[in-house]
Amino acid sequence: MSFQTFVLATGGVSFLFGLLFGALSGQTTLRILLFAVATAGLFLSVRTIRRTIGRQSASALQNPLTIKAQGLFDDLFDPMLNGLIRLLREKNEVSGRLAEVSSRFEGVLEHMVEGVAVTSPNAQILLVNAAFERILEVSSTEAVGNRLGLVIRDVAIHQLVEEVFRTRAKVVREIEFSGGGKKKTLSVVATVSETRDGSGKSYGIFLFYDMTTIRGLERIRKDFVANVSHEIRTPLTSIRGYAEALTDGALYDPELARKFLGIISDQADRLSRMVNDLLELSRLESGTVELRLGEIELGVQTDRMQEVFSSRLRDRNMQLRADFPRPFRYISDESLIELVLTNLLDNAIKYSPPGREIRIFAEQNDGIVTIGVSDNGPGIPREELPRVFERFYRVDRSRSSNISGTGLGLSIVRHVATILKGRVEIKSDPGEGTTVSLHLPQKMLRATSFPGNS
Ligand SMILES: Nc1ncnc2c1ncn2[C@@H]1O[C@H](COP(=O)(O)OP(=O)(O)O)[C@@H](O)[C@H]1O
Ligand SMILES: [Mg+2]
Repeated sequence: MSFQTFVLATGGVSFLFGLLFGALSGQTTLRILLFAVATAGLFLSVRTIRRTIGRQSASALQNPLTIKAQGLFDDLFDPMLNGLIRLLREKNEVSGRLAEVSSRFEGVLEHMVEGVAVTSPNAQILLVNAAFERILEVSSTEAVGNRLGLVIRDVAIHQLVEEVFRTRAKVVREIEFSGGGKKKTLSVVATVSETRDGSGKSYGIFLFYDMTTIRGLERIRKDFVANVSHEIRTPLTSIRGYAEALTDGALYDPELARKFLGIISDQADRLSRMVNDLLELSRLESGTVELRLGEIELGVQTDRMQEVFSSRLRDRNMQLRADFPRPFRYISDESLIELVLTNLLDNAIKYSPPGREIRIFAEQNDGIVTIGVSDNGPGIPREELPRVFERFYRVDRSRSSNISGTGLGLSIVRHVATILKGRVEIKSDPGEGTTVSLHLPQKMLRATSFPGNS
């Protein structure tokens, strides 16, 4: 037994003894004496405790989890205190590990592409993640605490929730969801999960994946295949029909034979143009086009175009006018710009009546070069304008049926604009004419292709 323990025990006993016997004593002098003994005992005890605590707290402050009970507490409290410390340390470790697991879980949940909702067995939402809020367009405050079927007011989701809790089997379904204004295609996977602790608690887990973009792309691809097949079948049917007519006897009528062979040749041309345009479009779409940026002089390019189209311009008695200051230099990819000019001039020449003038114009403003082709042909109805850049789209097929084309030209132009980080614009008034212009940012291109030339 240490000295402090002895002093504390003596002080304590004196205090209790003095207090008890002082209270019982009938004699005033004895009572005063006994109370004095009790006070002295109390004073001794308090002083000893204060000193010991002072020493302990100094060492506890330095390392609270490794307090070593000394002195007074050696005998009485050492085993208890050490047990307590061990417990505290374990609790600290466990709660640290729990915090780590919980923050990792939250991180994963928040960065998931799939929307997640966890519900109680009666479909009351316990937790949702950020993707859930985004995909289903509801905030977590609106969702948590409410029934899933009420938060997402959709018959298909209602049925899915009912089915998963009834069958307790995994349900996978694709649904058309029209909440929040926009129509979306959602793939939903729902399961009921039992907790592993044997408490029999279960949760509903719902995963929502937004398939709208993927399904949209699939639709475009399907439409594209259907369109290509249709567009190729038309000239092929025609070629086959006239070839059969020739073998069936038309070959022996020279005039008819020449006419039919002419048609076959035109249709074969149309097919080959279409295949070329399709190949061009798929090359531009592949994302593998390597830009060959350089300084181009538009005047030189226009002269070249004049040569390429000279016979067609002459046949239709048309003029091609260059409406820009010479020299007009800009940075771009020469072959891509020629692809654009070829398509725009082809349209302007073939859709405008003979005798009209076609203009290639250009200007430079605020680091943007605008190059375009303008005609005063029949124009395009306003409601058709947004669609002319779609693949295979041809305005009023009956009007353009005797004008050869694939409906791919303006799609190619728009792709080139995208590749050159620019944009294409079309303006048209029926009866007045059409202007298509390409806007090309220059600053970035100058910086990347010609350092110090900006
Ligand atoms: N300059 C123009 N004048 C009138 N219509 C035009 C002009 N350019 C394009 N169009 C319309 O837009 C449609 C799409 O053009 P495009 O994609 O080049 O296809 P294509 O020339 O093969 O028909 C054309 O079929 C035509 O109806
Ligand atoms: Mg065209």
